[in-house]
Amino acid sequence: MMTTYRLALIPGDGIGVDVSDAAMAVVQAAARKHSFDVQATRLDWSCAHYLRTGEMMPADGIETLRGFDAIYLGAVGWPETVPDSVSLHGLLLPIRKAFNQYANIRPHRLLPGVEGPLRSTGFDILCIRENTEGEYSGAGGRVHQGRDNEVAVETAIFTRAGVERILRFAFDQARARRGHVTSVTKSNAQKYSMVFWDELTREVAADYPDVSVSMMHVDAMAAKMVMAPESLDVVVASNLFGDILTDLGAAIQGGLGFAASANICPDGSGPSMFEPVHGSAPDIAGKRIANPIAAIWSAALMLEHLGQARAANEILAAISVATAQHIGTVPGRDSTDTITAAILAALEDHA
Ligand code: NAI
Ligand code: MG
Repeated sequence: MMTTYRLALIPGDGIGVDVSDAAMAVVQAAARKHSFDVQATRLDWSCAHYLRTGEMMPADGIETLRGFDAIYLGAVGWPETVPDSVSLHGLLLPIRKAFNQYANIRPHRLLPGVEGPLRSTGFDILCIRENTEGEYSGAGGRVHQGRDNEVAVETAIFTRAGVERILRFAFDQARARRGHVTSVTKSNAQKYSMVFWDELTREVAADYPDVSVSMMHVDAMAAKMVMAPESLDVVVASNLFGDILTDLGAAIQGGLGFAASANICPDGSGPSMFEPVHGSAPDIAGKRIANPIAAIWSAALMLEHLGQARAANEILAAISVATAQHIGTVPGRDSTDTITAAILAALEDHA
């Protein structure tokens, strides 16, 4: 019996459509090679959908997604016609919340042939960002709006359950890698939430004697990612800190065209979602020059999550073969199709 995966495919807007087409071509090629089946159901949920219907996804959208093994998303957003707050809050954020995708993981490493802005080339960092609470919990309010005495309050929410599970997830990842976790903190200045975060880091670390751990303030971490990124293995951070540090991570790996991500529901109670870090890039939409590598790498993370690690590793190897030939390494030079074809060819060549 051939293993079949049911995939919800949401290409979205702009280059999201181009890069998810490229990623699906690679996924299907890998599936043929490794004798599994990926049945993708294309869902046209996007800003175009919003303009037609008044909603980013149908009212039963979450229920529809629940039945799938995984969700693959290109990118959503078309700020010219739909405010970003609408497109983000109408699709991406509800999906992350509904399926408890509390671990946002983003690998940062330099592919062969890609010139990053740093002198260091030998880094391999896995950033794990808490994806559901912390500084982005949405707790707060404004009073006396528009008056001289106006006040805005936004409270970060850190729960024992929420912090502990993301830390455990990070330690588990480190076990499968080089065995080191750096926990990002700011307990010198934030004496409640981040002191709590540090305490839980020590508690969880006690259960992982085989994993070494260090704690680093977020400002020092920003410097470290530039000055000595090769010293880092797994980096775990709160929602806000992780958001900022992973943009830095994308920059040191050569830019958004290479930055992949996964929103993982670790307990498997719902589907996980895989997407490139970049958005819909309206400035280059329709020009067929979007780099599909971030999207294809995200698809590899998806196959790994689904249990097809060999296929995932072959896709990553094929990406490296293409970039080593300097295909896809300079923004805007090679077309999406050229880069995808090179990766597909390398995948076929791989014994
Ligand atoms: P963006 O990531 O779409 O683009 C930023 C810059 O990077 C642009 O100059 C773009 O041309 C370039 N770029 C991005 N991906 C590229 C690729 N694969 N190949 C070559 N160049 C690439 O971010 P921006 O412009 O801030 O947002 C555009 C829209 O995308 C907005 O509506 C925003 O809300 C949305 N967005 C959606 C995300 C998602 O669906 N997860 C994530 C980020 C933004
Ligand atoms: Mg961000």
